[in-house]
Amino acid sequence: MLTERSRRIGEADIMNKKIYSIGGLFDTPDSIIHAAEEAVKEGYTKFDVNTPYPVHGMESAMKLKPSLIGLVTLFVGLSGAAFAFMFMYWVSVVDYPLIIGGKPFFSWPAFVPVTFEVTVLSAAVGTVAVMIAMFFKFPNNAHPLHDTNYMKHVSSDRFGLNVVAIDPLFDESKVKDFLSRAGAKDIEIFYEPERKPIRVFDPKFIGLLVVIATVTAGVTYFTLNKLLYMPPFTWMAEQDRLSSQSQNAMFTDGFGMRNPVEGTVARGFTPYEFKGQPDSVVRNLSNPLPFSKEVIDRGKMRFDTYCSPCHGYFGKGDSRLNGQFPNPPTLHSDKVRNWPDGNIYHVITNGQNVMPSYDKQITRDDRWAIIHYIRVLQRSLNAKDTDLETKK
Ligand code: HEC
Repeated sequence: MLTERSRRIGEADIMNKKIYSIGGLFDTPDSIIHAAEEAVKEGYTKFDVNTPYPVHGMESAMKLKPSLIGLVTLFVGLSGAAFAFMFMYWVSVVDYPLIIGGKPFFSWPAFVPVTFEVTVLSAAVGTVAVMIAMFFKFPNNAHPLHDTNYMKHVSSDRFGLNVVAIDPLFDESKVKDFLSRAGAKDIEIFYEPERKPIRVFDPKFIGLLVVIATVTAGVTYFTLNKLLYMPPFTWMAEQDRLSSQSQNAMFTDGFGMRNPVEGTVARGFTPYEFKGQPDSVVRNLSNPLPFSKEVIDRGKMRFDTYCSPCHGYFGKGDSRLNGQFPNPPTLHSDKVRNWPDGNIYHVITNGQNVMPSYDKQITRDDRWAIIHYIRVLQRSLNAKDTDLETKK
């Protein structure tokens, strides 16, 4: 019986075609097992068996060695795992570090699910791709057995064995002879399909590319620029939310923006441990910042903003609050001048009597910068003779 393809090829062509294999069909699982054993006995190594369902005992009948595909899967899977892990590391530690729930940037337990998924995905896809490349010699998509009477039967109701022409013992008549001795019916010769190279500049091919490109671009444009802005795809964009600096009825104080939870510690900072203690215990806290022009400029800026309303621009205690708040004492007293920096830091951080704590408003470094600036103010009113000498 001529198959669809051999009819297309034409009898005449078949004569000069290369043989791919010779195959025969069997009726029962037992007979195909027997045939496989016989093929091994004959010494054939390049033969294959096609059955509609897995036939138990076939591996041992064919004397198959364990497949190497498992190693391929292992390799592709491990590559996928390594890629996923390193990519997440790069994103969350190197390229875009983001604090999430106060966790360290390199929180490897969070990487586990994605690593696992990518491992499985790449192992599965990689294995299939390698198999297609190995067995079908992808991108070739026409296996010689495709679209044959043999294939139609072995995928539904019969069992087939075919000896491939690359077998060292292959000989057309001997193989045919062997198959009929083993009890095969419908012995058939399969030929290598003729390969037509794809002509890239074929107008039809170019036309197809243009159509595909236009349709893809159109659908993509419509989806990303129109469809996703239509209800119900606007769920994410149009949800109840609160803009910063706006009111919110949910909280009794009406503020939309919330303070950090009590006891929150900023990343990289140790909490001030002397809170609520007498300032004598903080004597030996020393100013970590250099006494440089930049630091002093920064300190002046912060002092003018946060301290000067009460303490005056020069720390003389000349408040601008017109009696709305008790006037502070001058910062030029012997007491404050002889205080170590730690004491002033303590007053800013902890507050003192009516003066409130400024630890929420002013960062640690800015506090130390303010203290350098206060030292400058103090020295300007109490300069020593040596201050006037030029440096040698
Ligand atoms: C709301 C007004 C106000 C602000 C703003 C303010 N202080 Fe005070 N400060 C006071 C008052 C009032 C006192 C006196 C507290 C007391 O009775 O012990 C004081 C006391 C002090 C003292 C101790 C003086 C002493 O002789 O005991 C220092 C040092 C000081 N403030 C530094 C600062 C610094 C630095 C800033 C800016 C970060 C600042 N203050 C902001 C009102 C203020």
